Amino acid sequence: MLNGLSEDKGQRVRRMFDAIAHRYDLMNRAMTLGFDQSWRRLVVEKACPLADERLLDLACGTGDIAALAAGRYPASQIIAADFSGNMLKEARRRFPEAVITWLVCDANRLPFADGELHAVTFGYLLRNVGDVKAVLAEVHRVLAPGGRVVCLDTTTPRGLMAPLVKLYLTAVVPLLGKLLAGDRAAYSYLTGSTMNFYAAEDLAALFAAAGFESVGVRRLMCGSVAVHWGEKAK
Ligand SMILES: C[S@@+](CC[C@H](N)C(=O)[O-])C[C@H]1O[C@@H](n2cnc3c(N)ncnc32)[C@H](O)[C@@H]1O
Repeated sequence: MLNGLSEDKGQRVRRMFDAIAHRYDLMNRAMTLGFDQSWRRLVVEKACPLADERLLDLACGTGDIAALAAGRYPASQIIAADFSGNMLKEARRRFPEAVITWLVCDANRLPFADGELHAVTFGYLLRNVGDVKAVLAEVHRVLAPGGRVVCLDTTTPRGLMAPLVKLYLTAVVPLLGKLLAGDRAAYSYLTGSTMNFYAAEDLAALFAAAGFESVGVRRLMCGSVAVHWGEKAK
């Protein structure tokens, strides 16, 4: 979406990630009690690019998903993109040897022709964008028929554990943000964007509405995190 609202949110989000890039990984590990890498491995397994196929990790941040993909599928072409220069700088610093093409770009306007990619992954992108449907449409456009999309994100907690998860998100996460990243506001934003984001089944419906088939979802971490996947029609 290119209207004023989305542009504003984009600029704010980019500035925020530019500011926390140097502490992002430490916070990630602490907030998720170290489980975050296992979720990214699941994303990479689901994306499963074949030899010579092109996988784009969108909103790559400090590069974990792209680096896991490059290690797991050395015969595939791995591209990693983000609109935060500082997050990308951190990614390149962390993975200097990885065979990855790093790219600065906005998820709303991908610099790829229709059908050019075989898999697109993204971790924690969608709750940061102004228009989820527009980003899913853009991802669908750049995928080849049969191409896979895999998404990792937080999701509105439901069920018995929901009150505990909400307490963790509202009290513990902003405090950790203050102590470890020196930025309580950025992590209060994370809490807010998680609580106000789609429930996993509603996000799955948006993937289907964007044209993806065989849409599936797996909930993780007491239902506070979910991996969604789908396929572009062959
Ligand atoms: C929470 S971080 C996730 C990083 C990484 N995927 C991971 O698994 O840790 C979100 C990333 O999305 C990027 N981002 C947010 N909106 C974006 C957009 N419209 N286009 C490109 N990148 C975006 C931010 O710059 C940030 O690096």
